Amino acid sequence: MNDLSALPADFVWGAATSAYQIEGAVDEDGRTPSIWDTFSHTPGMVDNGDTGDTACDHYHRWPEDLELMKSLGLDGYRFSIAWPRVLPQGSGPVNPAGLAFYDRLVDSLLEAGITPNATIYHWDLPQALQDKGGWPERETAERYGEYAAVVAGALGDRVKDWATFNEPLCSAWIGHLEGRMAPGWTDLTAAVRTSVHLHVGHGLAVQALRAAHSDLRIGIVNNLSPCVPATDREEDVAAARRADGHTNRWWLDPVFGRGYPQDMVEVYGVDLPLKDGDLESISAPLDWVGLNYYFPQTIVDDPTGPAPYAKMAYLPDLPRTAMDWEVNADGLEQLLVRLHEEYAAPRILITENGSSYRDVVGPDGQVHDPERTQYLEDHLAACARAAERGVPVGGYYCWSLMDNFEWAYGYDKRFGLVHVDYDTQKRTVKTSGRRYADLIAAHRRRVRRAA
Ligand code: FCB
Repeated sequence: MNDLSALPADFVWGAATSAYQIEGAVDEDGRTPSIWDTFSHTPGMVDNGDTGDTACDHYHRWPEDLELMKSLGLDGYRFSIAWPRVLPQGSGPVNPAGLAFYDRLVDSLLEAGITPNATIYHWDLPQALQDKGGWPERETAERYGEYAAVVAGALGDRVKDWATFNEPLCSAWIGHLEGRMAPGWTDLTAAVRTSVHLHVGHGLAVQALRAAHSDLRIGIVNNLSPCVPATDREEDVAAARRADGHTNRWWLDPVFGRGYPQDMVEVYGVDLPLKDGDLESISAPLDWVGLNYYFPQTIVDDPTGPAPYAKMAYLPDLPRTAMDWEVNADGLEQLLVRLHEEYAAPRILITENGSSYRDVVGPDGQVHDPERTQYLEDHLAACARAAERGVPVGGYYCWSLMDNFEWAYGYDKRFGLVHVDYDTQKRTVKTSGRRYADLIAAHRRRVRRAA
């Protein structure tokens, strides 16, 4: 049994989702397509031809999903707002029906004693803005800043915790360089420009949020990964340093006031589309940073591959999830310590962490997922060890509340604490979900005893 007693008394026990992955209702109440609708409807882009058209039908079933959150005893719920619901053309007139959905959700969360943590952008750029050039163009960052002002104005009286972006790395590198996510480009220049414009948008959103309400707690969510050389060969050591630049430093350094790492600027060889004052606004002080952690990377040199000319080695015989991602809770502890020691992060929320396994509903009607349960316990223990080492770990949002549309993998990969039967939309709390509820209850008892 892992010792979680070092977790702080006010530790937020949460779960996370994102709009396109759960909502469905893609053409209701004025919503227009996002780049993910386009991408998922492009043959060959998503396994099995799956799309988010219906997903978990959360747009209609959210009251039931809220009951599930209550039954788990969650303190916090991290969700994202769909830009094309709120501003169907990406900018211009606000769609009141789209906003009303989040309004109802937020009110009901608060009534249930569950603190909302809203992500403004989780990859679903309105297609209307993609048609004008998308993230490689600076205008998209400006439109994003306006969109942030709209949602902060509408919800900021009640939602106090805000993330500007979820995993900008995926939008830039996977969406514009590797082409495995929307919009599916493979263009280094576009990818680097995207990365900078996402940061510019972040800076604009921070200003908009602060202007809307002075008491908001603002952060940005990055997916980070320890990058370790596969051997002590000089080439692999250098490759691991580049992989670290690509995966971690590129996303942290500018936000923490260090500018873009010069070694990576040279590796990419692309002019950064920065204007005067951008680096200042990109590094405006934050109240928290979000860490999404899934796996560490063992790196080998890859001189003929794409930037950053480093790739992940596949080490056999390691425990892996159904995503083929290595299971390694120590990596979470290392990243938490690094954010604290190297970047002096003010408060760190683990905004995502979780695992995919091949779950089935058993003859007893239950979903037994011992591997996910173990994964959850081990990663929470890593948080507790980091807390013991002085890291300001503020909370943990399990990915995910429920099984959902796992991007290019479609519905085949399940990450939920709650199982979803996509034919019937029946929800079943998995054994891991029950275990999570027990851990939450035990934490509360510990806090009460200590008081
Ligand atoms: C992260 C995403 C999230 C989910 C998990 C498994 O990269 O932020 O939406 O797909 O991976």
